[in-house]
Amino acid sequence: MTRFVERSLDRLDYLAFIPDRGWIDHGSGSPQRFQTLPQAEALLEQVVRERPVVLHGIGLSICSAEIFDQEYASNLIACGQRLNSPWISDHLSFTRIGTGHEVNAAIPLPVPYDQEVLDLLIPRVRFFTDAFEGSFLLENNVYYFRYPDQEFSEEEFLNQLCHRSGCGVLLDLHNLYTNALNHRFDAAEYLTNLDLSNVIEIHIAGGVPMMGFHTDSHTGPVLDGVWNLLEQTIPLAGNLRGVTFEFHESSFGMMGESGIHEQIDRARAIVNRRAVVAEAEHVAANVPAGRR
Ligand SMILES: [Fe+2]
Repeated sequence: MTRFVERSLDRLDYLAFIPDRGWIDHGSGSPQRFQTLPQAEALLEQVVRERPVVLHGIGLSICSAEIFDQEYASNLIACGQRLNSPWISDHLSFTRIGTGHEVNAAIPLPVPYDQEVLDLLIPRVRFFTDAFEGSFLLENNVYYFRYPDQEFSEEEFLNQLCHRSGCGVLLDLHNLYTNALNHRFDAAEYLTNLDLSNVIEIHIAGGVPMMGFHTDSHTGPVLDGVWNLLEQTIPLAGNLRGVTFEFHESSFGMMGESGIHEQIDRARAIVNRRAVVAEAEHVAANVPAGRR
């Protein structure tokens, strides 16, 4: 992956990096808890000289009922500040369970969308928005089961969370596509309910069917249904700053580096097309009515 990034830097507008892959976490309360890995540090130093780096964490577990890991959160913020990241993010989910004897579920689990969880999250999000100069985003997660009788839809929950906390949305369109397919709802309708002005970054990715489910494996090319959602979203997400193609390393064997570049180029073409249309609309709006 390191060599791919080095070879592809000219084709990237920014790099989304999983910070948890750049350190060893020795656990809460350890004197030197986060041990930086030299290879990752060297890569980031190289990239940040030429391109912005955004951090996409996987270890915060912000929705854990009993745990808010301020050491982890502070380290994520410090890394973001050091790299001058325009935004940092994690997932609207939890992996860590319990106190004392803590268990890691190893897969991000969904939370019920209700008032209690909303109230739990608001001060945790503000921990980031108060201390970090850039934006803090949470990503809509993939889920393979749904809680019954939730108070809010996911879209309503995200709208309220952003409104009350200053959080932004990392809209993962493949996660949305996967959930819509597995739980039989209309992804396009979800997008009309979500306040897209809160969307700062979009994820696109590939996935495969397995045992009757569509999965977010992050392998292979982006599916047509996800490209369609991207086309639908881009014109309406006025504060969008980036589209990220997420892929697992096994995708190199499936697609080759050129196949990955094609995904990035196609996403950029969709974003640029919207920029051209927006510019034309702006010019048209500024032409006096009599001259149109
Ligand atoms: Fe994602």
